[in-house]
Amino acid sequence: MTEKFDAVDVIRTKRDGGRLSDGQIDWVLAAYTRGVVAEEQMSALAMAILLNGMDRAEIARWTAAMIASGERLDFSGLSRPTADKHSTGGVGDKITLPLAPLVAVFGVAVPQLSGRGLGHTGGTLDKLESIPGWRAALTNDEMMAQLQDVGAVICQAGSGLAPADRKLYALRDVTGTVEAIPLIASSIMSKKIAEGTGSLVLDVKVGSGAFMKDATRARELARTMVELGTDAGVLTVALLTDMSTPLGLTAGNALEVREAVEVLAGGGPPDVVELTVALALEMLAAAGRPDLDPAAALADGRAMDVWRRMIAAQGGDPDATLPVARESEQVLAQADGVLDSLDALAVGVAAWRLGAGRARKEDPVQAGAGVELHAKPGDLVRAGQPVLTLHTDTPERFARAREALEGAIGISPAASLPEPSLRALVLDRIAAS
Ligand code: URA
Repeated sequence: MTEKFDAVDVIRTKRDGGRLSDGQIDWVLAAYTRGVVAEEQMSALAMAILLNGMDRAEIARWTAAMIASGERLDFSGLSRPTADKHSTGGVGDKITLPLAPLVAVFGVAVPQLSGRGLGHTGGTLDKLESIPGWRAALTNDEMMAQLQDVGAVICQAGSGLAPADRKLYALRDVTGTVEAIPLIASSIMSKKIAEGTGSLVLDVKVGSGAFMKDATRARELARTMVELGTDAGVLTVALLTDMSTPLGLTAGNALEVREAVEVLAGGGPPDVVELTVALALEMLAAAGRPDLDPAAALADGRAMDVWRRMIAAQGGDPDATLPVARESEQVLAQADGVLDSLDALAVGVAAWRLGAGRARKEDPVQAGAGVELHAKPGDLVRAGQPVLTLHTDTPERFARAREALEGAIGISPAASLPEPSLRALVLDRIAAS
């Protein structure tokens, strides 16, 4: 087959700061998926994109070409509007668990195609797999039936969605090109657009435990994704939210499910409730259902009813006892004062080293492993009081987890307590202009 373009010309165009034509973009992604553009050529192009960027039209075309590499789901046969949420990933981020059933209470279907964790941020599927019997893999027909019947599904994304992204993401991971905003935005949005949701709310995390450590880059990523969604006809809104400290009081699979169930029972940590309700309000508004009261549906048990049906529909037992790790150890406060920082990245790495996460995608995870927090920034602590409990089945992991936590717990004299308003969880909202 004669190729329409030459990979080296495409690389040179971007290397020299030019813009890629629609034809070049369509060809290079299709040819890469077919194996005609070599890995080393795509890695050079990814690096040129990281260094020289892409404009809005280029990113939109790149995203469309990634979508075209695979199948598209179609929810238009459902009798309900659809809304989805995507988080760029954080420590203790179990929000999807209470959020999906909560939004479904109001007749909006939530097709939540999720992934497993890699590195210090946990994966939603790993969390749910700590529930005995629950299964992540559904066929497209099973997913549609559950959406129609229960209104919410959290399951594994099939391999048919945006296969070009899967190949490119693995390459970016080993070539130092993950951080390019056009590539992150197109990677996330190609999967969400191919999934076929009618509206999308993005939770873009900012801070040490997030992908984006500073607010300027997080805002740019959020704006780029909102533009991509809007250009593809998906009503898209982004919230920028704090990830300098873990969300809630747990990081680790079964520990986080337990906390999500507390939220569904009308309790749970205030920050988890606040973010769940804030995202639910956005999803309901985006699906054309503003002026509803999701907080009431958490308090009165309607969201819990949907959760139980959602878990049971995928073989899980919502009443089963969750796994608990065999061993635990406490980390104690070293001084009296105010806890002024509890670093999200350190807690995420500690949970990962305890066995909650994996280093390679084929590694198993421990359901009970992780970190429990007994204090949050702003709380008064006394020397010797437990600040964290570490959980694992394999006690030889404690030492490495403690190493990750060195310097992670900041305690100041009580006089330097910052204003509570400086600890805002939702930092900004970005909608289509
Ligand atoms: N998540 C994705 O799906 N893709 C990226 O590029 C980064 C995070």
